[in-house]
Amino acid sequence: MAKIKTIFFCNECGHESAKWLGQCPSCNQWNTFVEEKIKPIKNTSKGLGSEKNEPQKLSDIKMEEDKRIETKIKELDRVLGGGIVIGSLVLVGGDPGIGKSTLLLQMCKHLAAEDKKVLYISGEESLKQIKIRAERLDIDANNLLLLCETNLTNIEDIVKKNMPDVMIIDSIQTMFKEDITSAPGSVSQVREVTNTLMQLAKGLSISTFIVGHVTKEGSIAGPRVLEHMVDTVLYFEGDRHASYRILRGVKNRYGSTNEIGVFEMRDKGLVEVNNPSELMLTGRPTDVSGSVVSCSLEGTRPMLVEVQSLISQTNFGMPRRTATGTDYNRVVLLMAVLEKRLGMQLASCDAYVNIAGGIKINEPALDLGIIMAIASSFKNTPIHSKTIVFGEVGLTGEVRAVNMAEQRVIEAEKLGFDVCIMPKANLKNFKPSNTIKVFGVENVTEALSIVR
Ligand code: TYD
Ligand code: MG
Repeated sequence: MAKIKTIFFCNECGHESAKWLGQCPSCNQWNTFVEEKIKPIKNTSKGLGSEKNEPQKLSDIKMEEDKRIETKIKELDRVLGGGIVIGSLVLVGGDPGIGKSTLLLQMCKHLAAEDKKVLYISGEESLKQIKIRAERLDIDANNLLLLCETNLTNIEDIVKKNMPDVMIIDSIQTMFKEDITSAPGSVSQVREVTNTLMQLAKGLSISTFIVGHVTKEGSIAGPRVLEHMVDTVLYFEGDRHASYRILRGVKNRYGSTNEIGVFEMRDKGLVEVNNPSELMLTGRPTDVSGSVVSCSLEGTRPMLVEVQSLISQTNFGMPRRTATGTDYNRVVLLMAVLEKRLGMQLASCDAYVNIAGGIKINEPALDLGIIMAIASSFKNTPIHSKTIVFGEVGLTGEVRAVNMAEQRVIEAEKLGFDVCIMPKANLKNFKPSNTIKVFGVENVTEALSIVR
């Protein structure tokens, strides 16, 4: 009998170590190491997709892919890169309760309506509970098979017998393989289960969705542990207090990763948001200092967001700086540009920058928006509410070109903005229409002189 070894794993990223460590050398998280017993497993994996493991000519390999299965949820299709690739393995990660099961069940509804055979395997809810949810979501499909099971050996048998087109595993942390001694949810279980699922998916051409909870506590492995094993990684995120949710592609072997899908959680499930800009700008204050609208690009889609800033006199020796929804270091850098190039005395001020709506944006095109919001709050002068600002700001205070400027201006026009402050370099390539007054600027001073 094979000897049982003990290994320590990082729950965050799956880093292995022979000893316990306080801090993970790979992801730098503290206190994430757990001990697991592992029995060496005989490696029985065959080649993916072909029985004979012989090299083949690239030109001889038959392409049956390209046939993607459309989910009919446009926001989801876009993030997937145009639909579900047959035989692909997709990881859907997110905080518990964010709506992963709801999204996937709704996807099943559309797939079943398209005559696809769908198998939904849940290790978290009973059949009755899923039925209650399905009723709430108005799902009544014949092609949708439900199964409550956590033992992977049984799942394998059932999958082989039923041969679904699409399979959903909800969630990976509840599934286990009998021949692995550690508990469900541990790093070795999660990895091994994913490995088996990958072979099922690729071997039988079953598109598989795996749900993975992002957890901070205890001995449950997070979805990052399996990111490298799957084809596509999607994260479902959002503010618990706000009703909208964002589906973000983090890795995609079959499409672009910077696309996002926007949904709103309603009482009857998730509803697609076709115009996220409108959603992001609802409730925006007008004629208040420190608020400015900027435009960020998410994949191929421009999205208007409100940048807010509050600058106030500091009460302590050390001024406080916070950035919510954007990169803290970028904000500090932009404040330094304002101090040095425009002589603003920000050293004795607390500064808070926030991207309204709980969304996270790290695009440099927001720089000019952040600068204008800080300057507006510092001087306590509001910026006209129908003004949109975007552009990357360099260390000398120059405003640099951004990509797809035209689309950003068009989006702003669509939402009724009438003034646009943008990089001058971008104006070479397109002619703005008459409904919006466009100012091309070369540096921060010029930009600020327009709104003054
Ligand atoms: P769920 O899909 O169970 O989350 P996850 O699988 O990611 O853990 O989502 C549950 C949340 O969604 C729960 O807080 C209630 C809410 N919800 C609605 O608001 N409307 C609905 O129609 C449904 C089904 C859920
Ligand atoms: Mg769930």
